[in-house]
Amino acid sequence: MTLGQAQGPGSAEVEPFDAVDVIRTKRDGGAVPEPALRWMVDAYTRGYVADSQMAAFAMAVLLNGMSRDEIRVMTDAMIASGERMSFAGLGKTTVDKHSTGGVGDKITLPLAPLVASFGVAVPQLSGRGLGHTGGTLDKLESIPGWRAALSNDEMFAQLQGVGAVICAAGSGLAPADKKLYALRDVTGTVEAIPLIASSIMSKKIAEGTDSLVLDVKFGSGAFMQDLDRARELARTMVELGTDSGVATTALLTDMNTPLGLAIGNANEVRESVEVLAGGGPADVVELTVALAREMLALAGRPDADVEAALKDGRAMDAWRAMIIAQDGDPDAALPAPNETHTVTASEAGFVTRLEALPFGIAAWRLGAGRARAQDPVLHAAGIDLHVKPGDQVAAGQPLFTLLGEDASRFERALEAVEGAWSIGSDAPAATPLVRERITA
Ligand code: URA
Repeated sequence: MTLGQAQGPGSAEVEPFDAVDVIRTKRDGGAVPEPALRWMVDAYTRGYVADSQMAAFAMAVLLNGMSRDEIRVMTDAMIASGERMSFAGLGKTTVDKHSTGGVGDKITLPLAPLVASFGVAVPQLSGRGLGHTGGTLDKLESIPGWRAALSNDEMFAQLQGVGAVICAAGSGLAPADKKLYALRDVTGTVEAIPLIASSIMSKKIAEGTDSLVLDVKFGSGAFMQDLDRARELARTMVELGTDSGVATTALLTDMNTPLGLAIGNANEVRESVEVLAGGGPADVVELTVALAREMLALAGRPDADVEAALKDGRAMDAWRAMIIAQDGDPDAALPAPNETHTVTASEAGFVTRLEALPFGIAAWRLGAGRARAQDPVLHAAGIDLHVKPGDQVAAGQPLFTLLGEDASRFERALEAVEGAWSIGSDAPAATPLVRERITA
């Protein structure tokens, strides 16, 4: 099959390729040549290639995969569909982090100021949550006055001064991905690893960072539940970053249990501030420190004493400056729930299991997350865990507390967590939070 010239119905310009040829090439297991693949992405963004044709192509990719080179070209074509930011004039090295998302994952909040406290710039363009995984911007919007939308000039100035910025990604980055992701969502093609990798990395590379650390999660609360598939995704993204000139490493981390004790928005901010004050739950501290080390190593500071910056207030100072720069009041009271409901242990023993996904769904049902992109979130809603797997409990001891605006949502939240934890007579074997490190 050759990918020949074609003229689209009604188009004045001659299109250099034919979408059907591109689809057939991928359907039959071939590699799509670079010019044809670039054209396919561009023509889809322009509306020349129809949704039905792109859906067929996405399904062919899901079934037959893509070579490393095809994934690089696909990613580059999606980057070329929109604006590309540059921090070249900043005079500081930039390093970014991306997490594939999980339950209770608030790591960006302590991590960005912690890394910035070492003089490295951290441009963290983030999103709002949809479904059971929370959005970083939703969490930060619990802070009175805090503003997610910044102009490029404001972001640049904040990176120069404070060093860390967490703000909304502009709609101009990789518009091809926005269109393709929405199509994949309704055509059963979200799961294709080449498409996930190119989707995530096109946005991250377009943001203009020098280096990138990926937190790829596996387990019940993760986007990729299976460890082998999470590893394949991590490898694909690390290769892609490297091929695109962005120094990239990844950690594979366990998301079978919620991260930390807080699941929600305001309570996750509170927990992040505890970490910045040198305390906080051990797993949140462990992952924050592990990711900070990776980021600082890529930024040329492999010997930075990350734990010291958490203990001596440097990371907290950077946090306060970061919140104030975006009009937030770091000292203001966070929204508090009107109603709470605490679930207690029915027997004594060890907590052997506490599943991330049901707790994420329960927090979402309480209003901490949204079902539709336009829905608001309830900042005070969520769940505070009082125990984690491995903890010993007495009968009647509190296990977790539902936090809500009104008690009417509690029943559906409790349904979600039915059977989601176990208490047994033996302590469970400890499992590492950071399972693997993946480098180029
Ligand atoms: N997140 C993204 O941005 N893209 C995907 O394809 C999956 C998760």
